[in-house]
Parts: sequence; structure tokens; C-alpha cells
Amino acid sequence: MDMTVSVNDNINGTLILPLTEGTESIPEDCERGLPNSMKAQINRVLGDADFKGKAKSTMSLIGGEDGKVILAGLGKSEDVSVHDYRKSGASVFASLKKSHGNDFTVRFSNSSVKQMAAFAEGMMLRDYSYDNYKMKDEDSEEGIKQIRLACNEKEAEELTALVEMYKGITKGVHLSRDLGNCPPNDMYPEEFADRAWEWAKQYDNVDVTIINYDQAIKAGMGGLVAVGMGSSRKPCMVIFEMNKDVKGKCPVLVGKGITFDTGGISLKPGAGMDEMKYDMGGSATVFGTMEALAQTGHKGKVVGMTCMAENMPAANAQRPGDVIKGLSGKTIEVLNTDAEGRLVLSDGLWKAGEYNPEYIIDFATLTGACVVALGHEATGLWSNNDEFRTRIHEAGNAVDELAWPMPLLPAFEKEMTDSKIADTRNLGAGRWGGANTAAAFLKQFVPNVDYEKDGEQITWAHMDIAGTYWGAKTNTMVKDGATGIHVRTMHHLITNG
Ligand code: BES
Ligand code: ZN
Ligand code: ZN
Repeated sequence: MDMTVSVNDNINGTLILPLTEGTESIPEDCERGLPNSMKAQINRVLGDADFKGKAKSTMSLIGGEDGKVILAGLGKSEDVSVHDYRKSGASVFASLKKSHGNDFTVRFSNSSVKQMAAFAEGMMLRDYSYDNYKMKDEDSEEGIKQIRLACNEKEAEELTALVEMYKGITKGVHLSRDLGNCPPNDMYPEEFADRAWEWAKQYDNVDVTIINYDQAIKAGMGGLVAVGMGSSRKPCMVIFEMNKDVKGKCPVLVGKGITFDTGGISLKPGAGMDEMKYDMGGSATVFGTMEALAQTGHKGKVVGMTCMAENMPAANAQRPGDVIKGLSGKTIEVLNTDAEGRLVLSDGLWKAGEYNPEYIIDFATLTGACVVALGHEATGLWSNNDEFRTRIHEAGNAVDELAWPMPLLPAFEKEMTDSKIADTRNLGAGRWGGANTAAAFLKQFVPNVDYEKDGEQITWAHMDIAGTYWGAKTNTMVKDGATGIHVRTMHHLITNG
């Protein structure tokens, strides 16, 4: 797709008209240059309420030689928000057929620049399909879609800047989806590391460091090693550093990167196991956020770390009952090898303390229990700092990616530190509150500032994206597969202070 801003009155190709509910005739500011017969057709469907302008609805009008028009519903006019514009843009994009051609002009009525930009963003986000593994039919090769956003001269500069920013952010979201959608025979820890390494070459302000299996063993990354050792594809940690010479504290993002989660010796049931290729969604969120920040020219320091492993049952896999020790020095009784995400993250979180974090946020497709609690509608959000949790919740709201506050209770911490043989256990005592006990486990591995023994714990949040990284059918921004959730939330949080 090629998205540009245009200040002339021409209608190139199919005209797209976003309209609010209750619009009874074509708005005056959209009429320019439209043939009378097309105007009459639009007025007829609006006057007869055949097209009501309901949120996410679209109607296509084909006027022969007079051109083609798509009406796009924005919803109720009193409370139409940027989110409605974004959803409308995505819905229009989803409705496009070959017969609409490759040229489009979007003409807005009575809309702010932010609203127009959000519509464009929705179109760009929805412009994604993962067809790397399908045979290409050369005859059906479609051209690149040219989309012009019409606006007046006063609006053009601001709109262009916003559209350029959203182009960059969308690249990050699509990268996260590409990584998530890639089948697990081709996406394994080393492949992820290779992609990060290759990716970093295009930016002179980003460095990627890979801690390979042998180095991880030497460094004492017992959690990462225990999870990954049963696979022939060995685990690794990938560290992204952006603008590393900038002084001071910086955000540190940590991602769970299980490229396939069989459950290990605590083997998962077969049904739906293929979906466990998405278990590296947290690492994809981190990588995608780095891309969004790099594309939009972020000047601050940011660090990302991804804990990559494949969780396999094997003769050399870890067992339930094993006691392991990771970077933090705390021991963990492994009661279930399927609770592996928290094990790799225990090393990632501890290591994050080395980068002088302003805060640490981890992303993980961590628990089925989180999906039970929140469905596919919201990410679970925990933090050791209420104000910080609210900030993330608000950053999510600002971009329409819901992250719902969940409790970090002392009782859950007690449950996860109550092992007869070790300092912690990777499984709760009962089956209830599984997403909360997982969060409480992670908290045991968040270091204090400067690793001071009796110091203050680094501000930290945990985002369980098990329900939102894929399978979210109500997410208008994506057709299917990986959603790329929270790249936009993180870009907003990091770039808006
Ligand atoms: N990757 C899964 C969590 C998951 C399950 C995400 C289903 C999305 C959909 C994770 O590693 C896991 O298996 N967690 C266990 C934890 C349990 C053994 C304490 C779970 O949720 O059942
Ligand atoms: Zn698991
Ligand atoms: Zn997992």
C-alpha cells in the first residue's frame, strides 16, 4: 500500500466516504467533482437509510462510468472517537475487492486531523496477510494500492507527519505478526536471533547481542537452559539496545519467546497444540516495538530482551521434580514443565536489572488461566506499582489495546514461595487464580534497584497476552493469526513519556 496526503480536489479511483450514523445526504464538503448521477445514488441510499453509517459497516456503490464509491460507517455522531475512525478504516480495507481497483481517494467530512490519521492507520494495520507459504499465482498479481487522503492545505503538514509515524508503527506491528505467524519448524530460537541480527544492520542506533546456549550455561541462566535443553534447537537470549550511548535510566522490555510449547514432559493434550507456535508472542512484541521505535526515529535509550527456547519432551529434557537455579541465585522447584514461560522469564527479568531500568515490562503468553479470566478481549496487567499500572492501562486505552488491571496479592506470592525443597515453585498449590500466581512468581525475580539487597524493587509490570496475541476475533485490525498486540501501546507509552 502507498498512502499519501493530497490537497487537490481530484478523485483518483474509488472514492471512500467515512460517514457518521444518521447522515441523510452527502455532506457538502465531500461533493466536489462528483458526477450528479453518483451524488443522486449516494443520496438515495442515505435518504432511504439503506446505509445507516453504523460502526464498521461499509457499502459499495458501483456507478459504471461515473466511478465507484465506498461508504464507511463511523457510528454515532455524538461520540465518534479516533478509535471509531481507526476501526472504520480497517473495515473498509477488509471490504476491498478486486473490482474496486488499486486507486482510492478518502474524503472526510468535518473530521479532525487526528481522526483522519486514525482512519489511515486502521487501513494500514489491516493491510496484512501472511502468505509466505502459499504458491503465488502470477496472473492474479495485484498492483500496489495507492491511497490518497484528501485534506485542505492547513491540515496537510500535520496529517502527513501523523501518517508517516503510523507507517513506522505499522511496520513494527506487522513484524510482530510475521514472527508469530511463522510456522515452528522455521521459527526457532536461533532463527529469531538471526532475524534480529540481520534486522539491526539497517539501523546505526540499534545493537543486537545474542547470548547463545553455551554462554547461557556459563552465565548461569538456569531457567532458560532448563526449558530449552530438551530441544535440538538450543535456547538463547537476544538483547536489543537502542541509542545505548544515551545516559540515564531507560525502559527495559522482556519477552517470553517459546517458539513451540509442547508442555515438555508435562505434555499438553494434542488438540490445538499447533497454536503453541504463538508462544513466542512476547518476544515478537519486544522485537516489533523495537522496529516501531526505530522506524519513527526514537531518540531515547530503550532495551529489549527476549528469552528464546523450544519446550520439548526428550531424554535430556527437564523433569517435574527437578530443582533448578537461575541468574538470581534463587532455586525453583519445577513441578510442571508446562509452566516454562516463567522459568525463562526469571532469567530475563533478573538480567534486565543490569541495564539501569527506569522500569521493566514483560510480555508473555503465560497462562491459559488469563484467557479464562479475560477472554480474548483484554491483556492481563499486573504491576508492583499502582501508578505505573495505571499509566500502562491508559497507554493501552489511548491506542485501543485493552490491558486490564489484575491483582498482585501477598497470598499469591506466599503460595509460590511455599516449596518444601526450594526457594520458589513454578506451580500454584491449587488450580485457582493461575494467572495471578504466575505473576506473583515472576515478581520474585524482579531485582531491586542496583541489585541492592535491601533496596527498593525496580518498577515492573507483567502483561499476559495469552488471550490477545492471537485468536482475538473482535480485533478489527487483523483478519486472523497473530495480532501484533501492544507494539502500539508500547510505542505510545515510550514516546509519550
Ligand atoms: N503457553 C502456555 C499458556 C497458554 C495456554 C497460552 C493456552 C495460551 C493458550 C503456558 O506455557 C502454559 O502451558 N501454562 C500452563 C501453566 C500451568 C501448568 C500452571 C497453563 O496455563 O495451563
Ligand atoms: Zn507451557
Ligand atoms: Zn508457554
